[in-house]
Amino acid sequence: MKKLKALKVCSYLKMIIREHSSKEWLNRQKSDPYVEKAKMNNYRCRSAFKLLQMDDKHSILKPGQCVVDIGAAPGSWTQIVVPRTNSDFTNKNLPTGLVIGIDLQQMFPINGAILLGNSDFTSTKTWDKIKTILNNRLIDVVLSDMAPNATGVKHLDHDLIIKMAFSVVKFSVMNSNVGGTCLIKIWDGNQNMELENILLKFYSTVKYIKPTASRSDSAEKYLLARGFKGLIKN
Ligand SMILES: C[S@@+](CC[C@H](N)C(=O)[O-])C[C@H]1O[C@@H](n2cnc3c(N)ncnc32)[C@H](O)[C@@H]1O
Repeated sequence: MKKLKALKVCSYLKMIIREHSSKEWLNRQKSDPYVEKAKMNNYRCRSAFKLLQMDDKHSILKPGQCVVDIGAAPGSWTQIVVPRTNSDFTNKNLPTGLVIGIDLQQMFPINGAILLGNSDFTSTKTWDKIKTILNNRLIDVVLSDMAPNATGVKHLDHDLIIKMAFSVVKFSVMNSNVGGTCLIKIWDGNQNMELENILLKFYSTVKYIKPTASRSDSAEKYLLARGFKGLIKN
């Protein structure tokens, strides 16, 4: 009887917390200038501005590049990548890019991109699908905004995203062009250094960046690795 009562109290508390955090989320969305700007520009979500700001500052994207966008849903990064790589062939005088977006979720089509929805990036089946599309072409830029559903437990969320980041690094190293770039989202934590050191083995420069559109109270930041050295032959 006592156990039942405790269970009821517990689920009631959970409901209150859920209600409180969704109210908080709604209030934050209402006062966020990027939410409004995203609507005005027809971007699928405010994240578009994170990539826009990082690319404007660090010149990551260029016409003709082959780009793989991991954790792409709902698709706002892809909406930025397509015109910047000319993968929709809008400018006939510039080289045409190839853009592949992957996500666990289904995505509405984006002209100029090949979207693999319902696809788990951490599965080899998805890697095979990407390789078939690449058809021996090497990747110039790997972007990963992939993130797990946050549990709210900081070290657990960090572990989960770092595990994803390692699979992004492995994929990039196996499929990138010499000179290529890899941009990976992480949530701050004690394994950052290990990831950074592995990236440094394969890329000439590695640095942390945080665009202003990334909320300052969030643990989110991006690792930008540039100048892929090629696979090290022993
Ligand atoms: C922050 S959202 C990406 C937003 C996206 N960059 C945009 O601008 O529209 C993170 C995405 O990672 C995806 N994701 C999480 N785990 C994944 C996995 N194992 N494979 C593929 N996508 C995954 C989620 O479904 C989610 O859509």
